[in-house]
Amino acid sequence: MTLQSSAARRHGAVTVAITSGKGGVGKTSLAVNLAAALRAMGQRIGILDADFGLGSVDVMLGLAPAAHLGAVLNGECAMGDVVVDGPAGIRIVAAGSGIRALTTLGAPQWDRLVDGLRELGASLDFLLVDTSPGIGDHVIDVVRLADRVIVVTGNEPTSLVDAYAMVKLLLSASAHREIGIVVNAAQDADEGQRVFRQLESATRRFLGRPIRYYGCIERDPAVSEAVFSQTPLVMDRPDAAASRAYRRLALRVVNWPSRGPAVDLADRRSASAPAPLPAMSAGTGVSRCA
Ligand SMILES: Nc1ncnc2c1ncn2[C@@H]1O[C@H](COP(=O)(O)OP(=O)(O)O)[C@@H](O)[C@H]1O
Ligand SMILES: [Mg+2]
Repeated sequence: MTLQSSAARRHGAVTVAITSGKGGVGKTSLAVNLAAALRAMGQRIGILDADFGLGSVDVMLGLAPAAHLGAVLNGECAMGDVVVDGPAGIRIVAAGSGIRALTTLGAPQWDRLVDGLRELGASLDFLLVDTSPGIGDHVIDVVRLADRVIVVTGNEPTSLVDAYAMVKLLLSASAHREIGIVVNAAQDADEGQRVFRQLESATRRFLGRPIRYYGCIERDPAVSEAVFSQTPLVMDRPDAAASRAYRRLALRVVNWPSRGPAVDLADRRSASAPAPLPAMSAGTGVSRCA
């Protein structure tokens, strides 16, 4: 398949939520670098930072936007007022930090979020939505707004258990046909496969649903060095091992088969969403903190 504009094939952006069970597993690094890799392929990209507690996309990119998504949800600004241009023209909507708006997301805020996503996505091919980890703070509701979801996990057992709990929750709460797993900070490709197989066998056995492997990103000190230089690693050091992995992931994202009818955000306004979270079974072990 060619790298033609996805928006040419459908109306508006494909929205991709990036989430995890446990915090600190590499979601924001992945969002920023996947965005940069997709941009280098000629795609029109935006990132919406929906990590209200600890939004960090703007910091990771060295941006200091004057207004944040919270102002959109409060009805003070339109999405177009808060979006800024990041590196290579990646469109960024920052979350700010310590804003708890999403924890009290009433119908008006929800409608503004849905309208804002549509406004932002109208001129993009892909809109990446970086979330906070775990089941709290409407994460599942936000993920349900997206066309696709990537669950990021580390290689430690704690991270895997939390990823499993997240997958379980997503499967019961969302109509996503496919949950893509990325194993981050893997020693090598073999370890990435092994970690995925562990997760996959549990979801097949206990949830009766497959998940899909979107690949691994190697543990690479260059990832955190790039955070200090506030530039996406794939731009700063395109030859780093992790940069190659982010580009492989970008290729997979661009080559996703078409999803059939586009998700119609109009159906997701407050009249039809969000349903209350299903009760968690005991011992699912999702971390609530970042
Ligand atoms: N593949 C990787 N290799 C090495 N360090 C990584 C990798 N991915 C992320 N990190 C580091 O892990 C920390 C957490 O990453 P971050 O993207 O902020 O996670 P999250 O958004 O899930 O909280 C950061 O210091 C980041 O530099
Ligand atoms: Mg983050």
